[in-house]
Amino acid sequence: MQQIRIRPIEARHIARILEIQEEARLSSWSAEGYIEELRLPNAIMLRAEAESGEIVGFIVGRIVPASADTVGIDAEIYNIGVATAARRSGIGTELLKAFLSACGQAGVSNVWLEVRASNDPAIGFYQDNGFTISGERTNFYADPTENALLMRLGLSRPYSA
Ligand SMILES: CC(C)(COP(=O)(O)OP(=O)(O)OC[C@H]1O[C@@H](n2cnc3c(N)ncnc32)[C@H](O)[C@@H]1OP(=O)(O)O)[C@@H](O)C(=O)NCCC(=O)NCCS
Repeated sequence: MQQIRIRPIEARHIARILEIQEEARLSSWSAEGYIEELRLPNAIMLRAEAESGEIVGFIVGRIVPASADTVGIDAEIYNIGVATAARRSGIGTELLKAFLSACGQAGVSNVWLEVRASNDPAIGFYQDNGFTISGERTNFYADPTENALLMRLGLSRPYSA
């Protein structure tokens, strides 16, 4: 596997993040959406960078503060994508581990995400990394309309990647 560095996303990286987002057919955030997310202290936004400096993947999510309805601190993953040519070489796993490590440091108990019910590669990827299916949201996605699977990973403390 080539050497990959996982680093925080900065505003100057967003154009490349948008390219990977489009290539990976992820739920499309605008550049402004990413900029706003960068301002949040509880956002976790990481890029995977090859030795050449090229960004080949990213993950974006957020730690959700505890509320009256929740037990412990949760986190959500909104988008993870790896450039097509760089897939299946462990980069998605590296990004996810770094995300989970940040969650562990913040005392997160549960990490949640939604995934299209037909997205077998992503479902396989998440299951390979310990997530389990915990529910289904009917017609959650548009274009095309499709159910979402809700997936969860419980973090035992202290989490270490
Ligand atoms: C999902 C995604 C981020 C995985 O990234 P990746 O760098 O290819 O993943 P990894 O190389 O770390 O794969 C780790 C493991 O996940 C599983 N996995 C990954 N891709 C898979 C696929 N296409 N089919 C089945 N299992 C897969 C495998 O168990 C794999 O281990 P292996 O290669 O030793 O068999 C990438 O495929 C992607 O960007 N997909 C398009 C965007 C997307 O669907 N994002 C999720 C939206 S919710």
